[in-house]
Parts: sequence; C-alpha cells; structure tokens
Amino acid sequence: MTPIYADHNATTAPDPAVRAAMEPFLSGWWGNPSSIHRIGREARAALDEFRYRMAAAWGCKPSEVVFTGGGTESNNLALLGTTRLLRGRGRHIVASAIEHHAVLHTLRYLERHEGFTLSIVPVDSHGRVDPDSVVSLLRPDTILVSVMAANNEVGTLQPVAEIGRQCRERGVVFHCDAVQAFGKRPFAGIGQFEADLVPVCAHKFHGPKGAGALYIRSPLLPHPIQHGGAQENERRGGTENLAAIAGLVEAFERFVPVPVFREEPLRAWTGRLAEVLRGIPGVVLRGHPEERLANTLAFTVEGTDSIALLANLDLEGVCASSGSACTAGSVEPSHVLQAMGVPDAEANALVRLSFGRDNVPAEIEHVAGILPEVIHRSRG
Ligand SMILES: Cc1ncc(COP(=O)(O)O)c(C=O)c1O
Repeated sequence: MTPIYADHNATTAPDPAVRAAMEPFLSGWWGNPSSIHRIGREARAALDEFRYRMAAAWGCKPSEVVFTGGGTESNNLALLGTTRLLRGRGRHIVASAIEHHAVLHTLRYLERHEGFTLSIVPVDSHGRVDPDSVVSLLRPDTILVSVMAANNEVGTLQPVAEIGRQCRERGVVFHCDAVQAFGKRPFAGIGQFEADLVPVCAHKFHGPKGAGALYIRSPLLPHPIQHGGAQENERRGGTENLAAIAGLVEAFERFVPVPVFREEPLRAWTGRLAEVLRGIPGVVLRGHPEERLANTLAFTVEGTDSIALLANLDLEGVCASSGSACTAGSVEPSHVLQAMGVPDAEANALVRLSFGRDNVPAEIEHVAGILPEVIHRSRG
C-alpha cells in the first residue's frame, strides 16, 4: 500500500527541480566562499547571487538576508541575538501562548538564564491572538514581541500585520515566525508581516531540510549566536552550505510567490473531511473555522489519545501527526490546545491532517472512508 502523506506541516518532499539546483554545489562548485583563490571566488560569486535572488524574492536589501540552518536556528538567532543586543534598553518580552517550541523554549531559556521576563499573550478558543491583548501587555521596558503568522498545529492565522504596526509605533521589535505561511498563503513581499525579524524554512515548501534564512530589517543587527568567522555579515560564523542555500532559493522562487499549496482544492478537501468528523460523537474540530491554513485539519477525540489514533491511521496507510513533529512520540498534551482552553484529556488526543500538492481526491475519499472506523478502534 502506498502511504497517504497527510503531514505536510511537518515537512514536504524535496522537489526534483530543487534537487537539480543543489547538485552543482555538491559536485563542481564545492569551493569555500571565504577562500581567496579562484575556486573560492567562484563559490563566493554563487553565494552573492543567491543572496541577491533571495532579496529580490522577498523585496528587501541583500544585506537583510541571513542564511541559516533552518527554522529553529532562524528563530534562535532572531530571539537570542535581538534580546542580547537590546538588553540595556529593557528585559521584557511578549509572546503568544501558541508559538512553536523553537520560540517558546528559547524565550523560556532567556527568562531562566539571562534575566528576562516573559509575558504570554492568551488566545481565544480558536487559537487567535487579539492585537489589543498584545498592546495591553506592552511596558516601557518591552523590547520584543513574538507572534507567529500561522500555527503549525491547528492552522489558525494571526493578525500579525496589525500587531506589527502597533509594535512599530511604539518602537518595539516585532518577530514573526512565518515558517508555516510560506507557500501556503499569498505572498506579496516580506514586508507584508510588518515585522523586523522573519524566519524562513525551506523544507516546508519542497526545499531541503536544514536550510533556512532570517530576514532582519535594517538597521537592526542582532548579536550572533554562533561565533567563529565573519560569514553572513558577521551574524553567523561557519562555512556556508551552498547546496542548501541553492535549494532554499530555488524552492522559494518556485513555490512561494505562487503558493504551491493551492487554496482550492485544499479547502474543499479539508472541508469534506470536516463534514465526516462532525458526524462522529466526541470529535471536535480545532482551530479557526475560516481564518486558518486551507491544508490543515485538526481535531480531538474523546476517549482515546493521539498515539492510538496515529498508530491506527498508520495501519490504514495514512501518515498524520499530533501537532508539531517535535512533540509527536510523546504523550504530553498539546500546549496549543491547552492555551485554547481544551481540557488535558482532549489536548492529549489531537490529530492533525495536513495535505499538499501531491495528494489526490481519491486519497481524501480513502481517509474519509476510514476515519470513523479508525476512531472507533482507537477508543477500544
Ligand atoms: C512554526 C514553526 N516554526 C519553526 C519550525 C522549525 O523549523 P525547522 O524544522 O526548520 O527547524 C517549525 C517546524 O515545524 C514550525 O512549524
């Protein structure tokens, strides 16, 4: 049985054109961009070209692009680097309760080890942040606000541009983890998030894993978190991974300006499955009914847990997840659902289906057919 892949928010398959774009940097052009000689200079020219292309695709200056090792690193660089830069101005940070652990755990670290104070913005039962709640938490010593564009577990979209504007008016740096929005939402330029810091992660839109970038709006210049060489405008020491960068840029150009996750049919598919789930007692759809990623369908099931549900789905050939891949495999209740006010017993029984470009209608019908039985069996 060919598996049905319904876990596109965890990762996506590298596209053949992306692989082809990476290949030259694993064979012919293997030079170190920092070397003085001609082989190094060729690699440097390629790197400069990629930075230029990334900046053109984002609509920003090349100096505002830092290539990194993925979404987690971009978030760490943004948060650790900026708070360390601005600590003399204040030690207060504001973040939403439903941020990815790459953000929340980093901020908790700053609280525990570096003397910062973190205020958490609550969300409503759909997982939405109210911009007024963010503003109400701002203090004279607030230096940074972090709110994600689209939640990875339940798909809820956030009014980040509005939050970003409020922060800018008050001189507070705004970090927006938009990792799940690229390729899934319309993209008109990196400025659309009204943020100073925006992480990007290639493997969410058919690029390679371990490849990412951080948009840093000038003149902000966070401290580096990785020390060594002067690479990436002294923001990230270490020889650049040109193949990964090639893959990221190629994937971004191909799959983000015209989103590779097509609103239709994805909305129709998740809508069809939502219909099926609404008919099953004890099953509750989670996330915002309208303001959500079209590809994402999250639900909880009374009387069982995520592990049983995912194992039974897997037996039927369906690859799904219980939320963020990082918490899959553990039975801890989803912090996102907890923040939405869901009791622990149900927050422990979350299933996330996330579809993408390679799914076909027959697969959706298959999932629709097996869901009632899978849920029944998981409860047994
Ligand atoms: C919202 C969000 N931020 C950050 C990350 C981390 O990205 P990476 O897997 O590239 O470290 C993910 C990946 O699941 C994510 O969904």
